[in-house]
Amino acid sequence: MKVKNICCLGAGYVGGPTMSVIALKCPDIKVTVVDLNEARIASWNDKNLDNLPVYEPGLAEVVAEARGRNLFFSTDVDTAIDAADMIFIAVNTPTKTYGEGKGMAADLKFVELCARQIARVATNDKIIVEKSTLPVRTAETLQTILDSSGNGVNFEVLSNPEFLAEGTAIDDLFKADRVLIGGNQTPSGKVAIQTLVDVYSNWLSPQQILTTNVWSSELSKLTANAFLAQRISSINAMSALCEATEADVDEVAYAVGTDSRIGPKFLKASVGFGGSCFQKDILNLVYLCRFFNLPEVADYWEQVIKLNDYQKYRFAKSIITTLFNTVSGKKIAFLGWAFKKDTNDTRESAAIYVADYLLEDNANIHVYDPKVSASKIKADLSYLWELNGVTEARIAQKLTQVFVHTEAEDALKDSHAVAVLTEWDEFKSYDWQTIYQNMYKPAFVFDGRNILDSNELSNIGFQFNGIGKS
Ligand code: UDX
Ligand code: UDX
Repeated sequence: MKVKNICCLGAGYVGGPTMSVIALKCPDIKVTVVDLNEARIASWNDKNLDNLPVYEPGLAEVVAEARGRNLFFSTDVDTAIDAADMIFIAVNTPTKTYGEGKGMAADLKFVELCARQIARVATNDKIIVEKSTLPVRTAETLQTILDSSGNGVNFEVLSNPEFLAEGTAIDDLFKADRVLIGGNQTPSGKVAIQTLVDVYSNWLSPQQILTTNVWSSELSKLTANAFLAQRISSINAMSALCEATEADVDEVAYAVGTDSRIGPKFLKASVGFGGSCFQKDILNLVYLCRFFNLPEVADYWEQVIKLNDYQKYRFAKSIITTLFNTVSGKKIAFLGWAFKKDTNDTRESAAIYVADYLLEDNANIHVYDPKVSASKIKADLSYLWELNGVTEARIAQKLTQVFVHTEAEDALKDSHAVAVLTEWDEFKSYDWQTIYQNMYKPAFVFDGRNILDSNELSNIGFQFNGIGKS
């Protein structure tokens, strides 16, 4: 079978870039990305490519070439579903904030809604592809819902988890380490797997395309994210020990990473990992382990999250203790708010939690991020406080201590301390001499990403604090 028409439900950080690249590389396939959010679709269709809702290096060029040719963005979900022979589900699957599994399990209500909508609308056979990260065995639930439609349509459910990292999404899609496709090991399941293999074969080699059974594929995604996050928590755990022993965490990471069995990647100590995936997926893994009565396995993985929380807290606490035990009324400049550089995504960013700790101590937080808007920053904090049951009045009061600037200079001027929360390249090339002159003395820098030159800054006169540096 050859796919002619693809539809993707969800035009977010995963659905948008992934479908744009599929459309670019497969000019014979019509790709329609649909979303319930009208504003988001309007942004995807904006003539000015600076207004795309997702910022990713290289994305605008891909959209410029494919949009209107064989790539379309729409809110007409039913029409797109009916016309497609293959449907990707890329809606969000956040951690549940209510009821059974609150704070741990993945909330699959959007995925379930998608399945019900497909079942209602479809009039011919379709391949359904799970792109969202899902708990292992979700394909079973999807299949049950789809098969209960009663309108005689056959559905094959595949799992095709996304491994792209934000900030490098386009490159990751062009040159994937691997694409993973899981499906039923039945004759029709194998046909469906091959159909999706053929789509990716337009630009990837057979060695890059792995096929497995559907459960292995679902679980591999959770496992990959758990292993990656575990490496960060491991090096961050060592960073605390480095600070206590005068070892340097970057030197330790380098020495350890040259062992080919360990490898050099994902060993950068930081203020803590963020992003929409790591925490959500590990909590989901922990929940699954408890569900399958494997408490020891659950506790093991939960520790990765606890260590990450500890790292964010440790960073904030060190700012308070170093600034003579209080930041009350002091101006703290935040360089960066996104969870990593080269993205405008702030989900679970360490900056949110560090700001929260400092605001509890009455700091004035002045943020500059090259890609994140003031409204997003305030919404991130308000969301965290609402979840924690903070009253509306108190939220409004706390927000009066949060200032967002469009120029770094304004955030830095007259500050008592600078905290680097995101590793944006531009921070490295700032005129630190002038910044120093315009700050209160002693002038403190807390580099939560270890990107600045500690010797240079110390020579200028800064009191410099890095992660895992004594
Ligand atoms: C994705 C995956 O789907 C998630 O499981 C993974 O762990 C992270 O990446 P992402 O693309 O980052 O999610 O989410 P988001 O940017 O929030 O995009 C999801 C989109 O789906 C939103 O634009 C939302 O409006 C849309 N949506 C959601 C629908 O169109 N219909 C729904 O019912 C729910
Ligand atoms: C991650 C996975 O890498 C990707 O394969 C999956 O599809 C989605 O989840 P993403 O969250 O977009 O991607 O970015 P990633 O580069 O993994 O970074 C996650 C967080 O870890 C960021 O906050 C980053 O700053 C932090 N990090 C990463 C470190 O602190 N140290 C490192 O060495 C690497």
